[in-house]
Amino acid sequence: MNVLAIESSCDETSVAIVDAGKNVLANLVSSQIAEHRPYGGVVPEIAARAHLEIISPLVDRAFAEAKISPEQIALVAATRGPGLASSLLIGHSFAKGLALSLGKPFIGINHLHGHLLSPLLSGQMAASDLFPNISLIVSGGHTLLLHVRAADDFEKIGSTLDDAAGEAFDKTAKLLGLDYPGGPLIDHHAGTGDPTLYEFPRGLARHPNYDFSFSGLKTAVRYFLEKQPPGFIAGNLPDLCAGIQESICSVLVDKTVRAAKDYQVKTVTVSGGVSCNSRLRGLFETTCFERGLQLHLCPPLFSTDNAAMIGLVAAHLSEKGIPADANADIAPNLGF
Ligand code: KG4
Ligand code: ZN
Repeated sequence: MNVLAIESSCDETSVAIVDAGKNVLANLVSSQIAEHRPYGGVVPEIAARAHLEIISPLVDRAFAEAKISPEQIALVAATRGPGLASSLLIGHSFAKGLALSLGKPFIGINHLHGHLLSPLLSGQMAASDLFPNISLIVSGGHTLLLHVRAADDFEKIGSTLDDAAGEAFDKTAKLLGLDYPGGPLIDHHAGTGDPTLYEFPRGLARHPNYDFSFSGLKTAVRYFLEKQPPGFIAGNLPDLCAGIQESICSVLVDKTVRAAKDYQVKTVTVSGGVSCNSRLRGLFETTCFERGLQLHLCPPLFSTDNAAMIGLVAAHLSEKGIPADANADIAPNLGF
């Protein structure tokens, strides 16, 4: 059973085809980062127009790359939310129209469910090996900690009270004069920096709950920089990036590992765009090894927004039959 999936919740248009064995036959991603960069963030109108222009050719290319014809598709899936309404609408409507024209069922998918199952896209384990676990989802819009019992059975145990981890990277990067999105640039510059030279607040680190807070970090960095002499950032960029990165990563790792202990699970997964961060990956690897925890990091290729993860969720959910609400409208504020 081949699934064709479309993801268009923010600034990436993606089309994927996933086969019956949940192998990814094609996963094409068209990023709009260059179009949004001059504005320092995602501009909804620009995003919607770019989705509209690229979606049809991207679907054609996905069929060509997967070497299958439209008749071989058994199910069409698209992200239903959360995300930007005007962006969601384009992928969701296109996918529904395609399903209708092919006479195949349609299923709307929660974007966060996609990130949650994305570590399975490494292809190196059966779904049963992944559960039960504690899963951290860290992206530009979300920071969530979940206790996961099965692919469709999970509960949220913590989330950010303000900025998402990716937002914390992007906003502090902006204060340092770095381009959008700043996360990968902080990661790059931090590589040669000393994380102990400039220490910034670690939001809610000592609180016994599993929630996160990153807005204090942004404010602390701003006040700290305002007190420095001209040229300070240029002369200290790697150390500043390393300090900021450490304050974000250490709290993410500490709380995830603590949850694994409290919920008595032996497996941890990490997904979402921020899971590309090299320090976060390294810190999770050493900490999980020390604690005897199995770690499944999402492959970087599937960490940022992609349709393969949406197709994967659709394949899992449809095994129990197409859900009653599969045709529901887009939901920009869809929870998880
Ligand atoms: O999952 P994603 O593509 O989109 C959302 O659903 O939000 O995540 C994008 C976020 C951005 O904030 C970006 O700065 C961050 O992921 N990111 C990184 C790295 N690569 C992407 N943050 C830190 N280090 C990285 N290497
Ligand atoms: Zn995402």
